[in-house]
Amino acid sequence: MIRMKKLLAKVLASVLIFSCVGCGDSSGKESAAEDNEALTVIGFSQPGAESAWRVALTDSVQEAFSEDRGYKLIYKDGQSKQDNQIRDIRTFIQQGVDYIILSPIVESGWDTVLSEAKQAGIPVIICDRNVVVSNESLYTAFVGSDFKSEGEKAVAYLQEMYEADEAGNLPEVNIVHIQGTIGSSAQIGRSNALIKACEDNSNWHIIVEECGEFTKAKAREIMDNTLQEINSDSIDVLYCENDEMAMGAIAALNEAGIAYGNENDITVISFDGSVGALQLCQNGQIDLVVECNPLQGPYLLNIVEMLNSNKTVPKITYVDEKYFAKDDLSEEYIKSRKY
Ligand code: AHR
Repeated sequence: MIRMKKLLAKVLASVLIFSCVGCGDSSGKESAAEDNEALTVIGFSQPGAESAWRVALTDSVQEAFSEDRGYKLIYKDGQSKQDNQIRDIRTFIQQGVDYIILSPIVESGWDTVLSEAKQAGIPVIICDRNVVVSNESLYTAFVGSDFKSEGEKAVAYLQEMYEADEAGNLPEVNIVHIQGTIGSSAQIGRSNALIKACEDNSNWHIIVEECGEFTKAKAREIMDNTLQEINSDSIDVLYCENDEMAMGAIAALNEAGIAYGNENDITVISFDGSVGALQLCQNGQIDLVVECNPLQGPYLLNIVEMLNSNKTVPKITYVDEKYFAKDDLSEEYIKSRKY
């Protein structure tokens, strides 16, 4: 259906261009419009621009769906509101885009708008975070992170760090947990891994748990308040669900003159792997950074190209992700990172 529409547009465009040769129009307007018609149009809905990570995702998608490759990308920023994202998807449907790429702010609440896209015959590819819908046929494919596995990597690191001593005594582990946007896959996967570990290890205790909305400012505020309410000596782990929030919490610790990181009593865990966080990790200020890979453009391009060729696409594609402690990092490697 989409291929037919594209083919028709391309044929029409070349016929018009051909019939225009020598007709003396110097404006070039018609052929520009015709070229545009021949492009595959993608509507891309992002939840916001709350982190360096998200900006890197936007850049990666824009780079992949370039005009040179035959695409026109319409980008919309939902300003951190699901309602805005729903409105943006409805606009894409009205515009008759060929594909919609949705990075959903939270998992639930998408059934109605995805049904509308399905009815309009527009394939939706979910990226970054996932959705929970009543019927999985409401979207064509998911490309993004395995947040459960990310959380498990962080927990495995802590498990090793706080193992029993030779006499079999387990240390008490008090955790400050700064969460991402509640209800987002990134928060759910990373939080659930920690919560499960606390259920499995009776010596692990979450002493503070608050939502920092994935932003530096909010996390800094949470940490400032925490340091006023509890003695920093009682904190063993600072578990921040992204780099921005780790940097915000670290700023509060710096201001209060409290030591943390590799050589000190507060173990800092972060997620994403932005250049700034990896530098802090190399300095020994963050103990572990679990990577969340925003370079998803090429994966999405691959799915769209498969769909364009009428190929069956995988329902789920997880992007490659690693984790980093101080010894895994070098200056050259950090410099080579794209985000
Ligand atoms: O969904 C991915 C998360 O969202 C990243 O960890 C975070 O930085 C972003 O805001």
